[in-house]
Amino acid sequence: MASLVLGIESSCDETGVALVKSAGQAVPQLLAHALHTQMAMHADYGGVVPELASRDHIRRVLPLTEDVLQQAEQALENVDVVAYTRGPGLAGALLVGAGVACALAAALGKPVLGVHHLEGHLLSPFLSADPPEFPFIALLVSGGHTQLMRVDGVGRYSLLGETIDDAAGEAFDKSAKLLGLGYPGGPALARLAEFGDPTAYKLPRPLLHSGDLDFSFAGLKTAVLTQAKKFEGAPCDQMRADLAASTQAAIVEVLIKKSIKALEQTGLKRLVVAGGVGANAALREQLNEACAKRGVRVHYPELHLCTDNGAMIALAAAMRIDAGVETPQANYAFDVKPRWPLDFSLLA
Ligand code: KG4
Ligand code: ZN
Repeated sequence: MASLVLGIESSCDETGVALVKSAGQAVPQLLAHALHTQMAMHADYGGVVPELASRDHIRRVLPLTEDVLQQAEQALENVDVVAYTRGPGLAGALLVGAGVACALAAALGKPVLGVHHLEGHLLSPFLSADPPEFPFIALLVSGGHTQLMRVDGVGRYSLLGETIDDAAGEAFDKSAKLLGLGYPGGPALARLAEFGDPTAYKLPRPLLHSGDLDFSFAGLKTAVLTQAKKFEGAPCDQMRADLAASTQAAIVEVLIKKSIKALEQTGLKRLVVAGGVGANAALREQLNEACAKRGVRVHYPELHLCTDNGAMIALAAAMRIDAGVETPQANYAFDVKPRWPLDFSLLA
């Protein structure tokens, strides 16, 4: 039977709400989604201010919900399940989404489901025009996480490798800051890199030959800092663009080599790239080329669903329910999990 799942995302600096329709075995269909990004609000501080983030989620979440219901031409009463991001993320920000989701569900007498934010990212390519099939390797590259997972089905995730320090998105953001670019740095650094020479500066590729599937990006940031200091005085635009391009090249090379290694080790021929850094054009271009050479299919979320959004949360909830991995409960005593590993803990 078809059911409507409302999803609420509030783990960091984006308030996202979406409505999906699930109909059993087929991939759930996205009916409507709405997003408010707090980027401009945090830009003055050079990063996310958790207290401001929570307050803004409170302001946005209900108007966005109304917007989504209106777009989908659905009444609130028609919602069958309310899903929310339970973690990981900023505790206060998560509590807003969880609180609102549970209050709405309680008022409607409908069940709720807390979703893992990374599971949302991981499954988000199922909403694309070219959805993947299980099993696949997932490269999860967000602002807080860099992980390679083996995905055998909904809820069947095993961690193959992860960053031992900074995440790839963090490496983009911190390097961007050192180059005097605004927040969030990833897209800004990528734009500047278009005008630079990726071979201009020799930057480290940490753990490239470590033999395992772990990552490390903290050393890269230090190398960028050392180089940026040499610019002191007046770096010309070309020098900054060259350093941006060299930084991006270092991050992209490590992500690609390790993804290929994970595919080789497991013998899988399918890769899913998800999370904010998955929007990076250089990564997509080079990864497509590397995978095409090896007969590997690569799947991405739609560009606008790469970064945080409510659609992936509603989708993950619907897929978990449809796969029989989880049954939503009409239990409105909620908690959030600011730190929450995504591996066997989500097994059916
Ligand atoms: O998945 P996401 O929206 O949030 C987290 O769950 O963390 O990822 C945000 C991260 C930020 O570090 C941002 O700089 C990075 O993704 N990002 C990019 C690009 N777009 C977003 N990094 C590189 N190139 C991009 N085009
Ligand atoms: Zn995210």
